[in-house]
Amino acid sequence: MGDRLTGQVAFITGAARGQGRAHAVKMAGEGADIIAIDVCGKLPDCVPYDSATPEDLDETVRLVEETGRRIVTSIVDTRDYEGMRDAVDRGVAELGRLDIIVANAGIASPQVWDQITPESFRDVMDVNVTGTWNAVMAGAQKIIDGGRGGSIILISSAAGIKMQPFMIHYTASKHAITGMAKAFAAELGKHSIRVNSVHPGPVLTPMGTGEMPAQISAAGESNPQLAHMLTPFLPSWVAMPEDIADTVCWLASNESKMITAQAIAVDQGSTSY
Ligand SMILES: NC(=O)c1ccc[n+]([C@@H]2O[C@H](COP(=O)([O-])OP(=O)(O)OC[C@H]3O[C@@H](n4cnc5c(N)ncnc54)[C@H](O)[C@@H]3O)[C@@H](O)[C@H]2O)c1
Repeated sequence: MGDRLTGQVAFITGAARGQGRAHAVKMAGEGADIIAIDVCGKLPDCVPYDSATPEDLDETVRLVEETGRRIVTSIVDTRDYEGMRDAVDRGVAELGRLDIIVANAGIASPQVWDQITPESFRDVMDVNVTGTWNAVMAGAQKIIDGGRGGSIILISSAAGIKMQPFMIHYTASKHAITGMAKAFAAELGKHSIRVNSVHPGPVLTPMGTGEMPAQISAAGESNPQLAHMLTPFLPSWVAMPEDIADTVCWLASNESKMITAQAIAVDQGSTSY
């Protein structure tokens, strides 16, 4: 618990579980109120892991309220621009302002290049790219209207700096986010709004449940030469959601006030070679 975000309001997508929940709880612990959204339902057909539920989002609410902060939630798909705008409007009406956006919702699907269908390519690009753009567009004007500046954090991946074998759609989408952060940073800078992208390596979240491990192994067997392309320098291969939240919270706070348009890797060194 700290006071680095006291009095501020953060809008976070994909907040029902995993990293999005960790960002919400960490920021609330630093004094921020939270506007949280999640689809809380069936993810596109190419996704091999379990979907989040409304009960997952309820648990995020419980954990945020435990810190003493307020949270306003909506169940909405990030691909639904109008729905996203309504969710932010309602949150700002209730909580009074907006300072921070964390565009975190995303999907992943391990598939060998010739098994990616036009539908799965479109779904991954729509959720990861258009959904991220929608999150910024739903909230940026509210930050500008506040006149205090702010911080926007787009969650990309190690795949958005280097690449992830057997995820051409995911890699393309995460590189798009890297570029999107820099382009928004250029135009929003005059409003003292900083925009950065965060690039985690593997993180222990429900993204690794269901058929995900089996599908990763099966894809890997198609071309073993590509194994270990993201080998870390540090001893740990996998981060916890809270490790990523530490960086996201730092980027939201005044401690990073001179940092914008940067791609910040939180990947134990795996994308640096
Ligand atoms: N887990 C990893 O290893 C890893 C590594 C690098 C980057 N990432 C990225 O981190 C972000 C968070 O992933 P996570 O590991 O917490 O996964 P997760 O699946 O546990 O959580 C993602 C959340 O986003 C929600 N979501 C997905 N599509 C949505 C949509 N269209 N609209 C609204 N909500 C939606 C899901 O319901 C879920 O609650 C993603 O962008 C992911 O690509 C994850």
